[in-house]
Amino acid sequence: MRRHETASAAHGWQRDGILFGCDYNPEQWPVSVWHDDVALMVQAGVDIVAINIFGWASIEPRPGEYDFDSLDAIIALLHENGIRVNLGTGTSSPPPWLSTRHPEILPVMADGTRRWPGGRQAWCPSSPVFREHALRLASVVAERYGSHPAVALWHVSNELGCHNALCYCDVSAASFRRWLEARYDSITRLNDAWGTTFWSQHYSDWSEILPPRSTLSAGNPAQRLDFERFSSEELLGYYREELAVIRAASTAPVTTNFMVTAHIRTQDYWRWAPEVDLIANDHYVDYRLDRPEVELSFSADLTRGLAHGEPWMLMETATSAVSWQPHNIAKVPGELVRTVASHLARGADGICFFQWRASRQGAEKFHSALLPHAGTDSKIWRETLGLSAMLDRLAPVSGTRVDARVAIMFSWESRWSASHETHPSEDVSYLTEAHRAYSALRSAGVTVDFVPPGADLAGYSLVIVPTLYCVNDSDARGLSDYVAGGGHAVVTFFSGLADDELRLRMDATGATPPGAFAELLGAWTEEFFPLGQGGTASLTDGATGSIWTEIVRVTTATVMTEFADGQVAGHPAITSNAFGDGRAIYVATALDDDSYETLVASALAEAGVTGHTLGADVEVVTRSNGTDRFVFVINHSASDVSLAGTGTELTTGESIDGIVAVPAGAVRVLRESIR
Ligand code: GLA
Repeated sequence: MRRHETASAAHGWQRDGILFGCDYNPEQWPVSVWHDDVALMVQAGVDIVAINIFGWASIEPRPGEYDFDSLDAIIALLHENGIRVNLGTGTSSPPPWLSTRHPEILPVMADGTRRWPGGRQAWCPSSPVFREHALRLASVVAERYGSHPAVALWHVSNELGCHNALCYCDVSAASFRRWLEARYDSITRLNDAWGTTFWSQHYSDWSEILPPRSTLSAGNPAQRLDFERFSSEELLGYYREELAVIRAASTAPVTTNFMVTAHIRTQDYWRWAPEVDLIANDHYVDYRLDRPEVELSFSADLTRGLAHGEPWMLMETATSAVSWQPHNIAKVPGELVRTVASHLARGADGICFFQWRASRQGAEKFHSALLPHAGTDSKIWRETLGLSAMLDRLAPVSGTRVDARVAIMFSWESRWSASHETHPSEDVSYLTEAHRAYSALRSAGVTVDFVPPGADLAGYSLVIVPTLYCVNDSDARGLSDYVAGGGHAVVTFFSGLADDELRLRMDATGATPPGAFAELLGAWTEEFFPLGQGGTASLTDGATGSIWTEIVRVTTATVMTEFADGQVAGHPAITSNAFGDGRAIYVATALDDDSYETLVASALAEAGVTGHTLGADVEVVTRSNGTDRFVFVINHSASDVSLAGTGTELTTGESIDGIVAVPAGAVRVLRESIR
């Protein structure tokens, strides 16, 4: 973005416009290259640069001995050139001297084997030794640069939990026990919560409790879920400690980069979100998927959910190929702009890349960058300049909001626990079912918010609840109250079965079958009939189900569709229940995409929601403020499409009176006046 900062920028990291930035690792290059780099950054309109992410070994080469010459110099150089700094605390990867002196900081896997230095993030989240050293470094860095005018944002560690979230060492075990004591207070309560009458697992003392290390047989699911919760809280606790150290020395906003969908599965970001000043997400296109662009938009919408609709930042993405997929597919011309536009349309006000200059050495030397190995006479560099210019033209979009009337209820606890072992089918994947729901809504041209269980649902006309395996009483009631008050819900199989201690939801005498949503749905499940690998079931309306079937017993619901074949032929597959002033639909199988879309279309119609679609491979998403509407059209298809409207098309500056043409592969953003 060209510099047009105004004094009115609301938060330290924001400008009047879309922020354009990158990670930069100057420690990998001689000083002469830094000057070329910064000159090219200015040419490319880079606003903000994340540095010192992996800086620990450079700035503290020996214990307690600091060398800030290079970091001082690069911050000064960036500052002189009007580029602001997203300053890493440098703690993400400890230097070899620390793990050599203190091998006890190295993480231990469930089978007792250690993980060694040589990669990154080789530290145990509970290690007091690691924390002592890392917090000392964070505090020295915060004090040194806390009031530096270039520092617009603090970047705590890096992708906390990407590799090291689950550590099973003795130190982690002790911390886990402390966490359990705080949660349950008495060992009797813990025994009750974990169901330890089963398989002679009763604990008589806290000291007997271990993390869920590798066992001969299946382990205890409640123990595992608590360890998953603990492991998320443990890193969040670590983040809070760094945050406190920074706050003591600086008023600049503080964040850390999430990965809300892939890679970091271990962190419950609903719990993290209130603790960062800015929601920042890292996203890389996953070419292993059939439709990677759908996963991208899912991730962007989920990030906006974490931000409560406020602007958020894409902290990392790639200009072209990454270096960690089995086949590192390069982006074709136009794809970069489409992917970036999809994040912008869904609420991002900043677009940053990993990384500025492609590395020459190390594990990421084949990863793309804004400035590729080929230099400036290259497709990627031309795209970098083109993208920056487009972000400038989209400046008026910044600060606007995305409105959605439909939500998906998303739960990290169900994501973890739905895939525990010893369940009816190993093919039940929480994320896959959430994607399936999302994809059907996206195809209907509907913009989706993500909300946690227990959220206030009042503003939504329709809520989809995919595979919410475990749910506590008050969150279950929240959904029922929403429907009773006139809301519409679609709940899919394997939902509401367990409480938050993974006890099946039935009364203690066994008199009622499991299910938190039985009354809401007017239906309950008598027996599960999961399908074998690759198996399918036909439904009477021509739909095909996969993964799951079951015997559904209706109480007050009406049957919309039955299973037509297989072991559950003649039993309900989809039911609909009028509940209070609203309606709840239950889907007892994983519907094929077309049928899911049909079901969602009728639920949307009943809920009074109309989508805006120009075809399956065209995204139409609107951001707005009190005066203007910005309609993003992202054409992933091979055909030209057009949009009716009047206003200005921002990517070309063209005035529009009637129709915006959106060529195949192109992005257009129509600014319309609301009044
Ligand atoms: C992550 C990290 C970066 C880099 C990129 C590569 O997102 O935060 O340091 O490793 O992946 O894709």
